[in-house]
Amino acid sequence: MATLTWYGHSTCGIETDDGTKLIIDPFFDDNPVCDVSADDVEADFILVTHGHGDHIGDLIPLARRTGALVISTHELVSWLATHDIDNTHGMSIGGGSSFPFGRLKMTPALHGTLNEGPGGEKFPTMPAGLLVTLNGGQRLYHAGDTALLTDMQLLRGRVDVALLPIGDNYTMGPDDAVRAVEFIEPEVVVPIHFDTWPPIAQDAQAFKASVGERARVEVLEPGGRLDF
Ligand code: NI
Ligand code: MN
Repeated sequence: MATLTWYGHSTCGIETDDGTKLIIDPFFDDNPVCDVSADDVEADFILVTHGHGDHIGDLIPLARRTGALVISTHELVSWLATHDIDNTHGMSIGGGSSFPFGRLKMTPALHGTLNEGPGGEKFPTMPAGLLVTLNGGQRLYHAGDTALLTDMQLLRGRVDVALLPIGDNYTMGPDDAVRAVEFIEPEVVVPIHFDTWPPIAQDAQAFKASVGERARVEVLEPGGRLDF
């Protein structure tokens, strides 16, 4: 049994069967819906979809303190090296690699590419989604920030738990997220990237009703957990 913790927005923790701790898109201290401090989070691996501030807010301090291996795109880990964070593994869209927790493949995400680091420096990243297959066999898809993509049909039959943005405005909204569920046919859907700020306020229960029988929608509160 693995456990997913949704910290609000796109930030997730996964604890695997053997106690390995993964953090995806660390955004704790400036996350308005998260009351967990990045100082209180442990990580063996940090997975990052792209370089926007609402996905890497606490990445540098968390990577420094924990010494976790940071896995992200080549562009993002190259930027991290300029902050003297070198325990990294760079990948690119369509590529997969094996890690002690299982296998990670980077999937396409259609989203903005320009980011700003803590020193005001600009750097580009290629936004990605994450298809994680844990050693225990559980298959989790974190879509990152993305529009609806017909490419998501390629994930059909390969995902147990899908974390899909529903916030609209910066990512797909609830209607397109329902279409993503039709494309992917996951067992469980966890909506993410909504209700963090007013422009992405959504009614997650209405989304759940729209998905209907297509999948089991687990609407978590920030800090909420799901065993899978
Ligand atoms: Ni973004
Ligand atoms: Mn975002």
